[in-house]
Amino acid sequence: MIQLDLGNLNKEKLNTLGEKLPAFLSKVENLGFVSCLDEVDLEGIINFSQSKKDKFDHLVVLGIGGSALGSKAIVQALGKELIVLDNIDPDLIKETEKKIDIRKTLFLVISKSGETIETLTQFSYFWEKLNSKDNFVFVTGEKGKLREIAAKEDIKTFSIPENVVGRFSVLTPVGLLPASLLGIDIVSLLEGAKKMRKLFLSKNLADNLPFQLAGAHVVSNKNTIVLMPYKERLRAFSSWWAQLLGESTGKQGKGFTPLPAMGVTDQHSLLQLLTEGPDDKLTMFLSVTSKEEGKLDRLLEIEKEATRKSLTESKRDNLEIKLSELSSEALGELFFLFMGVTYFLGELLGINVFDQPGVERAKVLIRESLAKS
Ligand code: PA5
Repeated sequence: MIQLDLGNLNKEKLNTLGEKLPAFLSKVENLGFVSCLDEVDLEGIINFSQSKKDKFDHLVVLGIGGSALGSKAIVQALGKELIVLDNIDPDLIKETEKKIDIRKTLFLVISKSGETIETLTQFSYFWEKLNSKDNFVFVTGEKGKLREIAAKEDIKTFSIPENVVGRFSVLTPVGLLPASLLGIDIVSLLEGAKKMRKLFLSKNLADNLPFQLAGAHVVSNKNTIVLMPYKERLRAFSSWWAQLLGESTGKQGKGFTPLPAMGVTDQHSLLQLLTEGPDDKLTMFLSVTSKEEGKLDRLLEIEKEATRKSLTESKRDNLEIKLSELSSEALGELFFLFMGVTYFLGELLGINVFDQPGVERAKVLIRESLAKS
């Protein structure tokens, strides 16, 4: 379960924003990230995962951006290990090859467009070495180069719904297939997301956590949003969130700059800036209630409380998102919470959070330069 403590944020202003909630909800039905929860081929994913059980020693994701950050976040949060090659630095690829036997590796090639040059190049690099369809599985959209390759080479492929863009795709096979292959309970992950979807669809501001949190961003009116989990396992989650917030809202000269931080580590790094630097930040603490009563659990809790207090005393806007546990269900809730927040931010700022023209432009320029080289 997730609770939100908005601290000293101006509730009157939030209530005024809340008047827009019914209008914003009138357009959500066909949104990909909302409907995809009911469209997942759970049986197909689970059966495929079982058929691959004990057949491979390693699992490697080839993908980038929204096709990589979600799976990284899931596996780290739930204590599993996965190699995600979301860079083309040749050193990274060589170092990975030293650590694994590629013949005993299942490569998950993930790309919504099926056209991303980094992912296609990584695929062809490993395909030339292996030339075996059993070592590969694709997750992609209905069109694009990967689809063509899948058809030609008869490679098993899972689909990403057309109306779901990369950074909103974690709860499609993009995140669910790697998770399931690692034995994660993806049914609970989706259950959690559906619980949060129910709140997201509520016209009652008091129930609608995603709207309250989006409203807090707007009421606070700061450029930079800090996400500071007090849990190492949520480090990769913060990177997923940073892409979601930055790539979705950064348009037309508007948007929020995400600043991932880590409690308690960054109390000794960023905290000085947060308490006494420019007053242009909203800090969101993200905590997980500990069931243990050990010395370290107690200290972690005390430090989080004290740090929040220090920000409040310095009159720096802050709030807290509290998770009752870090389970697959809670993680599903958390993913949907932030996707819901992002949708509402788009409505509140008057921007389309589902496109990424800046990213696409760079992709075109890369292709043009490659054609000339
Ligand atoms: O969120 C997005 O849409 C982007 O970050 C994409 O995920 C990223 O550019 C990779 O694109 P694709 O999944 O088409 O390979």
